Amino acid sequence: MAAKVTSMPTVIGALKAICTAAQTSAFPDIASKVDVASSAMGADYQNNSALSLFGRLKAAGLPDGIKSPKDVAQRLADAMQLCDSEAMMAKVEVAGAGFINITISGPWFADRLNTIAQNGALPPPVQTQKVVVDFSSPNVAKEMHAGHLRSTIIGDSICRVLEFCGHEVLRVNHVGDWGTQFGMLIGHLKQVFPDFASNPPPIGDLQAFYKESKKHFDEDKDFAKLAHEEVVRLQSGDGASRYAWQQICDVSRAAFEEVYSRLGVKLTEVGESFYNEYIHAVVSHLNEIGLVSDSVDPADPSRVAKVVFPPNTKHEQPLMVVKSDGGFGYDSTDMAAVWYRIFEHQANWIIYVTDAGQAPHFELVFEAARAAGWATEATRLDHVPFGLVCGDDGKKFKTRSGETVRLVDLLDEAKIRMGKTLHERQLEQLKQKEEGATGGRVSLTEMDDATLETYAAVIGYSAVKYADLKANRISNYIFNYDRMLDEKGNTAVYLLYAGARIASIVRNSGVDMNALLASGARIVLVEPAEFKLGKELLRFQEIIELMLSTLQPNFICEYLYELCNLFTKFYQECKVIGDPAQDSRLLLLIALEKTLRKGFALVGLGYLERI
Ligand code: ARG
Repeated sequence: MAAKVTSMPTVIGALKAICTAAQTSAFPDIASKVDVASSAMGADYQNNSALSLFGRLKAAGLPDGIKSPKDVAQRLADAMQLCDSEAMMAKVEVAGAGFINITISGPWFADRLNTIAQNGALPPPVQTQKVVVDFSSPNVAKEMHAGHLRSTIIGDSICRVLEFCGHEVLRVNHVGDWGTQFGMLIGHLKQVFPDFASNPPPIGDLQAFYKESKKHFDEDKDFAKLAHEEVVRLQSGDGASRYAWQQICDVSRAAFEEVYSRLGVKLTEVGESFYNEYIHAVVSHLNEIGLVSDSVDPADPSRVAKVVFPPNTKHEQPLMVVKSDGGFGYDSTDMAAVWYRIFEHQANWIIYVTDAGQAPHFELVFEAARAAGWATEATRLDHVPFGLVCGDDGKKFKTRSGETVRLVDLLDEAKIRMGKTLHERQLEQLKQKEEGATGGRVSLTEMDDATLETYAAVIGYSAVKYADLKANRISNYIFNYDRMLDEKGNTAVYLLYAGARIASIVRNSGVDMNALLASGARIVLVEPAEFKLGKELLRFQEIIELMLSTLQPNFICEYLYELCNLFTKFYQECKVIGDPAQDSRLLLLIALEKTLRKGFALVGLGYLERI
C-alpha cells in the first residue's frame, strides 16, 4: 500500500524547488535569489531569476557563452528541464529580455487532482509550532458585544487553519474576570442576595445587575467605600469574596457558552485572574532589568505610577505596570500573560485577536517582551486587528434603543429568518410536486420540521460567520441579514447550496464512490472549464500559506467563492452523468467536494448534503 500523503507543497513551491536545483547546477559558483511567480502572460508561471543572476555573473566575470540575460535564461531553462524529475512542466520558454515562461503539464495537474480525490485537500508542509491564540475574551458581568463576536469568529478560523496544518494550538479565552469593578459587584451581590453562599443567586441578566451595582456605587458613598474594601478582600484571597466572585463568573460563563455552542467554537478559559499570582514577579523582573520608570501625576505629585516605555515604539502612552494606588491593571496582566505563554506554555507564536483600537496596547506589550528578552527573534507575536460591525446607518451596531445587541439574539434571528425561507421554499416545492413538475428542486419536500430547523441553524449561523470573515477584517463591515442570507452573491447560503448540489450530483450518479476511487480510474482534463476548475483546486495550499502569513480569513472565503463559480461554469459546459468522461468528471467533483468541505470547515461553516 502506498504511504499516506499528509501534506502537499504548493505548486509554486514545487516549481521553486525545480528552479533552485536548476540554478545551482547551471551556475554553481554564484548565489542569487530564485524568483518564481504566477504569470499573467498566458503561461502558468514565470521564472524571473535570470536578470538579477546576470548582474551577479557580470560582477564576478561572465562565464563562457553568456553575453546577455537571455543567455542566462536559456541556460536556466535547459537545466530546469533536466531537473524536472516528475515531468511537472509541459513547456519552458524564454521570452522577452530573459523571462522564462512555464506551462504546467496537463497530466501532472491531473495527477495532483487524483491525489486530492483520494486523500482530500491537504495542508502545505509547515514547520510546526506551539501557538497560543488569544481570542473572544469577553468581560465578566458585561454583555458580549459585536466586537467579541468578530474576535470569536476570526480567532476560531485562525485556530482551525493552524490546527489543520499540524500546529499545536492553545485556544485561550482571556476573559476579563479581574479588576476593581468586582468590588462593586461583590458588594452589591452580598446586599441583594445575602444568602448567596447557600443559594446560587438568580441573576438572569448580568448586564442589568452590573448597571444596578454601578448606580449603587455612584450614588452611595458608603457603598463605594465598602466596594473598595471588597476588592482588597478579594485580592487577598478572602473565602467569602472569592466565592461571590466565582458565582458572578459562573453566570457570565454560562452566558458566553450559549454563544460558543451556537457557533461551534471551542475555547479554554484562562482569564485575567489566572495571571494575578505571577504579576509581582514579572513586574519585579522588568524593574530589575531597568525597564521600569516612575511616572508622576502632574496634578497630584504624590501619585506615582510605574511605567514601561519600550524602545522602538512610537507611542506617547507607556505601559502602566503598577498603578499609582499600587494596583495592577490590564497592562500588567498582559505582561504577565505574555511571560507565562512564552515560558510556561513554551509558545513560539502568540496571536491576539481584538479590535483595531487595541493595536497600540499590543505593540507596547510586544516591544516590552522583546526588550525584556522574553520574546526572541524566533518568537512570532501578532496582533490581529479588526474593524467595527456597523448597522445599515454605517454606525456602530446597536439595538434600536441604543443598547448592545445580545449576540444570542442576533444569532437566533439569523436562524429564524433562514427557517422561514426554508419553510416557504418547502411549500413551493410541495406545490410543484403536486402539480407533477419534473426537474427543478424538490429536495426539501421530504424534510421533517426538525431537519429543517437543523438546516436553518447551520445556514443561519454560517451566514453570520461568513459575512464577517469574507470582508477584509481591517475594514468595518455592515451587518445586514438580507444580504448575508441571500442565496445569490458571495454568501454562505450560495456556497452551501453549491456544496449540496455537488454532493447530490455525485449521489445521483448512482456510482459507488469508494469503488470508483479504488478502481484506478483517473482524472483527465480536456475541456477548458475542467482545466480552470482543476487549476483552481491546486491553489488550495497557496491560499492556506497566504492565510497563515497574513492571518486574513477573507482569502479563504474568496477562494471558496471562486471555486463555486468555476463549478457552475464547469457544470454548464460539461455533462457529467452519462457522458463518456463520466468517471473522470465524477472524480474531479469528488476532489472539489473534498476541497470545499475542508475549506468550509476552515472558516467554520457547516456542510449540507442536500437542499
Ligand atoms: N477583554 C478584552 C476586551 O473585551 C479583550 C482581551 C484581549 N486579550 C488580551 N490578552 N488583552 O476588550
